[in-house]
Amino acid sequence: MEHMQQFEALFDHATIGIVLCNKDAEIINFNAQAEAQFGYTKDEVLGKKIEVLLPVKYRRSHVSDRNHFYAHPENKVMGHGRDLHGQKKDGTEFPVEVSLSHYHNKNEVYVIAFVIDITVRKNNELVVLKHREELQQITRQITQLNIDLEQKVENRTKMLRETLAELEKSKKEVTDALEKEKELGDLKTGFVTMASHEFRTPLSTIMSSAFLLSKYDSADDAPKREKHINRIREAVNDMKSILEDFLSLGKLEEGSVKPRMQLVPNAEYLLEMQNAVDAMMQLTKKGQRIRFTHDGAAAVFTDLSLLKNIIVNLCSNAIKFSPEGTVIQLHSACDGQLFTLSVKDQGIGISEDDQQHLFERFFRAKNAANIQGTGLGLHIVAKYLELMHGQIELRSALDQGTEFIIQIPQSNHEKDPAD
Ligand SMILES: Nc1ncnc2c1ncn2[C@@H]1O[C@H](COP(=O)(O)OP(=O)(O)OP(=O)(O)O)[C@@H](O)[C@H]1O
Ligand SMILES: [Mg+2]
Repeated sequence: MEHMQQFEALFDHATIGIVLCNKDAEIINFNAQAEAQFGYTKDEVLGKKIEVLLPVKYRRSHVSDRNHFYAHPENKVMGHGRDLHGQKKDGTEFPVEVSLSHYHNKNEVYVIAFVIDITVRKNNELVVLKHREELQQITRQITQLNIDLEQKVENRTKMLRETLAELEKSKKEVTDALEKEKELGDLKTGFVTMASHEFRTPLSTIMSSAFLLSKYDSADDAPKREKHINRIREAVNDMKSILEDFLSLGKLEEGSVKPRMQLVPNAEYLLEMQNAVDAMMQLTKKGQRIRFTHDGAAAVFTDLSLLKNIIVNLCSNAIKFSPEGTVIQLHSACDGQLFTLSVKDQGIGISEDDQQHLFERFFRAKNAANIQGTGLGLHIVAKYLELMHGQIELRSALDQGTEFIIQIPQSNHEKDPAD
């Protein structure tokens, strides 16, 4: 009897719901905790099918599940992998954990269901889940923030790099401008030095001729007057040509000389060359001859005025630096691909040392010290050729004569080579 009481106490005071069913799944016992969980009194459920404790939507499938269980009963925890729900008398559902047990008595199977209400655990799980989601959300936000930050840093770095490049560029512009300024300054200083030296001879010629002119006042003195007037004219011309060279150089340094390349037909080229040679003949020394030859019938792609200037410079050097009675050979050729022109003299030649510096402005070779000149001509020639994408070279040795050879590429007629 005492055992019976103990058993009832155990049954009624158990802290989990206990539902006992017979072989037909009818409830035959229902403990106090189950009453509390489901809201039914024991009397209300006795004799009812177990499904009364399930939400309506699960009842039908539960019937087949439990038939299967009754056929192969085993002790187990129900609902692996899915949530189980019970339904209270008032219709509310709540999550449960159920484990099943069974026993046989007089050849009949009895099933005991142990039910735990897991509402609190589920709620906690939900809270944990919510927290985890919030955490994930925050992590995502932080990751995004990080990406944004990195992007910002990258953008700033890029901007900084661009600003630096800009700064570098303006620095270069300023340096270039200063360099140019300095170049022009040097040029002017060079000019003052050169002019004070080179102008002295023609100026003293002018002074002495002017003085003598005032003396020759009789009619008989007419030839002498003529002679001195000519000297004055020549001296002024010399000074004028020095000034002109200097002005060309100034324009070149400023970058304001733009070549105007055009195709000059062969006949026009020959005529222009002949005119230039005729003009140069005026400057020759006694017995000096200029022999001009040309190969090819192709039109010449050039800036004619720059080319004539180059030829005048080279020929006047040849005349100036060779003795009387010598021949100056001027030869050109054009095959539509390349224009070449050479000026060859039988003059004083140029030493190898001096050849290195020939195209520097104001440079004059040692053996030319006593011959008039400013040292600007070849510098200007080289600059003009640079503008036409051409080049210049020379062959010379002391007292062996000199040959200057220039080349101007003819390939791209459509394009202005200075672009
Ligand atoms: N044909 C040549 N024969 C020998 N030396 C030459 C010849 N052409 C140039 N030179 C040397 O090169 C130097 C530079 O020539 P460049 O034409 O620049 O100056 P320049 O003739 O002295 O003066 P400018 O041409 O300015 O009046 C000359 O002073 C001379 O020493
Ligand atoms: Mg010269």
